[in-house]
Amino acid sequence: MGTHDLWVPMKFLFGMPTDEPYDREEEIKTLTEMIRRKQPTVIVGVRRIGKTSIILKSVKNMESPKIFLSAKEFVEGKSFDLQSFLSAYSSLILSEFLRVIDPKIRIPQTIKIRGRELLDTLRELVGYAKIRLNIPLTEVELFLDSFKKASFREGVAEIIELPQRLAEEFSLNFTIIIDEFQYLRLASQNYPGIFHLLRSKWQLHDRVAYVISGSSVGLLERTFSKKTEPFYQFFYPIYVERFRSDVSISFLEQGFSDEGREVEYDAISLAVKELDGIPAWLNYFGLKSISCKRVTVSCAKKVLASLNEDPLIRNIVLDEYRKFGKNARIILKFLASVGGEGKLRGIDISRSGVNEGIKSLLNDGYIERRERGVYKIVDPVISKLIPTIV
Ligand SMILES: Nc1ncnc2c1ncn2[C@@H]1O[C@H](COP(=O)(O)OP(=O)(O)O)[C@@H](O)[C@H]1O
Ligand SMILES: [Mg+2]
Repeated sequence: MGTHDLWVPMKFLFGMPTDEPYDREEEIKTLTEMIRRKQPTVIVGVRRIGKTSIILKSVKNMESPKIFLSAKEFVEGKSFDLQSFLSAYSSLILSEFLRVIDPKIRIPQTIKIRGRELLDTLRELVGYAKIRLNIPLTEVELFLDSFKKASFREGVAEIIELPQRLAEEFSLNFTIIIDEFQYLRLASQNYPGIFHLLRSKWQLHDRVAYVISGSSVGLLERTFSKKTEPFYQFFYPIYVERFRSDVSISFLEQGFSDEGREVEYDAISLAVKELDGIPAWLNYFGLKSISCKRVTVSCAKKVLASLNEDPLIRNIVLDEYRKFGKNARIILKFLASVGGEGKLRGIDISRSGVNEGIKSLLNDGYIERRERGVYKIVDPVISKLIPTIV
């Protein structure tokens, strides 16, 4: 298999990550190198900026086993279903190992299922590995047993060792990617010390590369850069930023050209001013504009105006807005009403309310702190839509 990709025309794509992201060569090179070194790495960036796409491309041509899972899927209200997470984690690790070691086998679906069914799948995989490949899987068995014997703690500790044990056994390297990692924090409520445990084990795993990522920028940063945190100075950070405006422009130009559309520079420039280098929105703009034969300024204006009415986008924004507490919502509304960026002077909540709201918005990566007292809503589409939906 070659290591370089053949040239393929660029296609605008919305709603799922791409494994051919535009202009992310630096980030991909760095991540690939960190994985090769087994250097734990964190990919930090706001929603829709392209974190998952960078990860997908970095591991695309990697032949050694790798798994990708998102901690977000195991959040239930304010708590975290650690048992399902660990069942999925070990099922994925096992099935990926089996796939690499014995490519002919059929592997049960493990990602979309939960609870009881997931445990059964795991049991099936363990049985399979024991019989077919004679792999000793005491770790997983202990974990499975622990539900009966109230020795869950021990089971957890053993599961964390699984990838390293298997990698040693078969002289392989393994890559583990956990997206939206900050949600694992919630597991500490029922399982205090989970991060300490993870770090103490992970730092000895010389055959496993750990990559985490997340969009709750503030929370994630605290996890790896605060002295009192278990993961302090553990991860090498890769920050994923918005496209610079010249990059956004060439992204759209190339996209339209590959789609066989002529464009007016002013049309593209208008879109870039409004969408501010967020790849997901640039793609959406691209998709909506290919219905114009020629992407003129008037086509671009129409498309941009239609973004505000678009139910798909309104739902995304509304869903995210609803998750916030009262203070955060008031702050978002206030900032949106002054064009997305400004001071919070004159806002109608108490000082402590402002502080609480700011903290939660910073933690979750929805606003950025500019110069003293000035805050900015990160996503221009959110900023634009909020006044029209609430
Ligand atoms: N560099 C890029 N080039 C082209 N499209 C991109 C790029 N980065 C992201 N996208 C697109 O934007 C959307 C969001 O990307 P994704 O990787 O899922 O972001 P994140 O994981 O940060 O939320 C996806 O539809 C993806 O295809
Ligand atoms: Mg993602």
